[in-house]
Amino acid sequence: MQISSLFNLAFFLAPLFLAWTVGAFSPLTYSKTSLTEATNITKPGCPSKCGNLTVPYPFGIGLNSGCSLNPFFDILCNSSYNPPKAFLRSNGLEVIGINETKIRIRNRVAWGCLSVDPNQDLSGNYSMDLRGTSFSFSNENKLTVVGCDDIGIISSGTPDFDYFSSCVAICSKTQDLTNGSCSGIGCCQASIPKGLQYINGDMFTLNGHEKVQSFNPCGYTFLAEQNRYEFLAPDVNDPSFVDTITENVPLVIDWAIGNRSCSQVGNTNECVGESVCVDSGTEIGGYRCNCSQGYEGNPYLSPGCIDINECHNFACPPNALCINSRGSYKCSCPPGYLTIDTENAFGCIPLPRRKKTGLYAGLLGGLGLFLLLVVTFWLYKVLKKRRIKQMKEALFKRNGGLLLHQQISSHDHVLEKMTIFTVKELEKATDKFNESRILGQGGQGTVYKGMLPDGTIVAVKKSKQVNENHLGEFINEVVILSQINHRNVVRLLGCCLETEVPLLVYEFVPNGSLYDFIHDDTTGFPFSWDLRLRIAAEIANALAYLHYATSIPVFHRDMKSNNILLDEKYRAKLSDFGISRSVAIDQTHFTTKVKGTFGYLDPEYFQTGKFTEKSDVYSFGVVLIELLTRQKPISTSVTDEERSLVTRFLLTMEENQLKTILDPQLIEHDLNEEHCSVAKLAKRCLNLNGKKRPTIREVTMELESIRTSENPSFVESNIQDESFIEMDSLDFSVEG
Ligand SMILES: *[C@@H]1O[C@H](CO)[C@@H](O)[C@H](O)[C@H]1NC(C)=O
Ligand SMILES: *[C@@H]1O[C@H](CO)[C@@H](O)[C@H](O)[C@H]1NC(C)=O
Ligand SMILES: *[C@@H]1O[C@H](CO)[C@@H](O)[C@H](O)[C@H]1NC(C)=O
Ligand SMILES: *[C@@H]1O[C@H](CO)[C@@H](O)[C@H](O)[C@H]1NC(C)=O
Ligand SMILES: *[C@@H]1O[C@H](CO)[C@@H](O)[C@H](O)[C@H]1NC(C)=O
Ligand SMILES: *[C@@H]1O[C@H](CO)[C@@H](O)[C@H](O)[C@H]1NC(C)=O
Ligand SMILES: *[C@@H]1O[C@H](CO)[C@@H](O)[C@H](O)[C@H]1NC(C)=O
Ligand SMILES: *[C@@H]1O[C@H](CO)[C@@H](O)[C@H](O)[C@H]1NC(C)=O
Repeated sequence: MQISSLFNLAFFLAPLFLAWTVGAFSPLTYSKTSLTEATNITKPGCPSKCGNLTVPYPFGIGLNSGCSLNPFFDILCNSSYNPPKAFLRSNGLEVIGINETKIRIRNRVAWGCLSVDPNQDLSGNYSMDLRGTSFSFSNENKLTVVGCDDIGIISSGTPDFDYFSSCVAICSKTQDLTNGSCSGIGCCQASIPKGLQYINGDMFTLNGHEKVQSFNPCGYTFLAEQNRYEFLAPDVNDPSFVDTITENVPLVIDWAIGNRSCSQVGNTNECVGESVCVDSGTEIGGYRCNCSQGYEGNPYLSPGCIDINECHNFACPPNALCINSRGSYKCSCPPGYLTIDTENAFGCIPLPRRKKTGLYAGLLGGLGLFLLLVVTFWLYKVLKKRRIKQMKEALFKRNGGLLLHQQISSHDHVLEKMTIFTVKELEKATDKFNESRILGQGGQGTVYKGMLPDGTIVAVKKSKQVNENHLGEFINEVVILSQINHRNVVRLLGCCLETEVPLLVYEFVPNGSLYDFIHDDTTGFPFSWDLRLRIAAEIANALAYLHYATSIPVFHRDMKSNNILLDEKYRAKLSDFGISRSVAIDQTHFTTKVKGTFGYLDPEYFQTGKFTEKSDVYSFGVVLIELLTRQKPISTSVTDEERSLVTRFLLTMEENQLKTILDPQLIEHDLNEEHCSVAKLAKRCLNLNGKKRPTIREVTMELESIRTSENPSFVESNIQDESFIEMDSLDFSVEG
């Protein structure tokens, strides 16, 4: 008895539970019979069909037959065709469909082909005229051009040639064409405005199809009902293309009654019985009629729209009772059912039948079922948790494995030197990678600001995309940075290997990038000569350390002011070692795919693909002139040859016009010895021949000697002296 009751209850509750989770109650909608499916489609005694076309009133078949509302709506049916064809009386356009708001008509195509004989014009244009009617071309049509050398135009065709729309389709080889893509290569589409009543479809070719004739002898222009034409690559070379379009791709027309709006016609409109007047929505006025909600039929024909018996259309869900009323209906649940009635759903759930003896048992059974549900839910949670854990472990193994692989070449124990964070810790630190925590976004990924439990502020780098390339770059950065310990290189505190791409945790460098500092005037911090000189020296120092003092030389390969960060005392810190490489000591260069940033890229490396230590020196030279001129390496405002800062700088150096390019703030007083020395140094770094550039070690020494030379303004500097003292105790000595 107890068991059967439990089944009973489970049986009753299951659908409720299911329905509840899926949200699958009957939505309160009903289907509506359209104009062409109403009981009375035409006036009494009038034919409703011409061939396959249904012609609903206010349209009517026949010339002045009295079947239409007015002569504009006369449809001429020519039965010499099989099946018969229908035409609009006013302009002879062939009608292939009519619904509540639109007329579909057979299309026309303008074309143009390669003509060998210049006197022979192999082209065709067309026009369509709806003037004087209350119809207009719908903006649901798209101007479509197919071809490889063509401009399609929809114009008014008048002598002053008002253009309404145009687009250009070009291509140079068939391989460029993509099926389904109509965005300029071999096919283009453009919108047209609504309310047009006269259109002239015309086209021009750019080179008369001369260059593309082998695969595209002709171009085509037509208006196509939205989403009805899909470009296929073979279309550009299809001799029967015009027929294909006229057969399969219609053009749509907005129809309306008259040229006055509902408010202008007032009560004299044509809308009868339970319908409302609706403005046409085109620019040229006119109105249509709509059945009121809950009514269907032809709103133009007496007795008008009639009530929909929704109950015949299964408007209510199973088990429910349906009560129809005028314009509406109501669902209710019979006795013995539970009613679920929310804003957009209605349902009836059968209640367990009460049996006197079964009541107590039923309750017990219910309790059992409840327990069963709880256990299932708990099991589900546990299993899910375990799966996530397994996934994390697998990722950790993969990423750790990659790290290990790189370590073998670096003879170093990377993992031992770093903190390994869990995802949970980093999610907590960054407030679940909250957008408000984003410090910056670069090519490699997004950097978030975070706070570790001990209060340390850190920067967490997370890759945007998940692909092997990025994974490699991240692991590379871990390996490189773990070997480096330098005051002017951003410190890697640890990483997290449990995610698809490792998350890297760095020390937080609060004052942003040098690039922003140089090119964004709003920081308000004075950018004195001493500060610039110090930053330059610090970067050179860090680079020299990378090139000479690490166990294996490291080339940064993406030196730029964006990758130089400034700490609270405006000390420079080199960052972003994603594409850096370490090289075996006896090797002086390596050949790779060119990577780096335009504007900073060593031209020699760009040409030969060989990256040497001097390529870093070149990029450093660019940063130097950025510091000198406060101009961007690639400017967008000037002409081509003047775009490159390097070119302009070298030119002014040549012409002895240094003063004209230096940051005016720098030389407020006058050009001094130091400015010239640094400019000359930059020029040497930018030598096109890598061999003639100084090494970064020489650069460092030179900058140091410029800095320590007698300098009266030194004491007035805004920088606290402390930071200069620190500079003297650099980790890296140039003699090393
Ligand atoms: C169809 O039209 C006739 C004549 O106007 C009318 O008597 C009849 O009620 C209409 N039928 C429906 C279903 O509207
Ligand atoms: C006309 O309708 C019939 C039956 O629905 C169909 O077989 C035929 O292909 C249609 N003809 C045209 C030209 O659409
Ligand atoms: C019907 O179409 C045929 C063929 O185009 C044409 O010759 C004829 O004049 C048309 N008939 C009418 C009544 O328009
Ligand atoms: C009428 O036809 C047009 C064009 O095909 C379509 O966009 C529209 O949804 C149709 N209207 C109705 C009520 O079926
Ligand atoms: C086609 O273009 C020519 C030249 O612009 C024009 O004279 C002619 O009327 C156009 N034909 C149509 C059908 O628009
Ligand atoms: C494009 O579609 C055509 C016709 O369906 C087909 O023959 C051709 O292989 C398709 N091309 C591509 C690249 O899919
Ligand atoms: C509206 O149509 C009537 C008659 O068809 C015409 O006389 C009148 O000029 C039209 N009005 C506008 C604003 O187009
Ligand atoms: C007219 O009826 C159609 C179909 O029910 C509806 O989509 C449209 O919004 C109605 N138009 C207005 C203005 O009420």
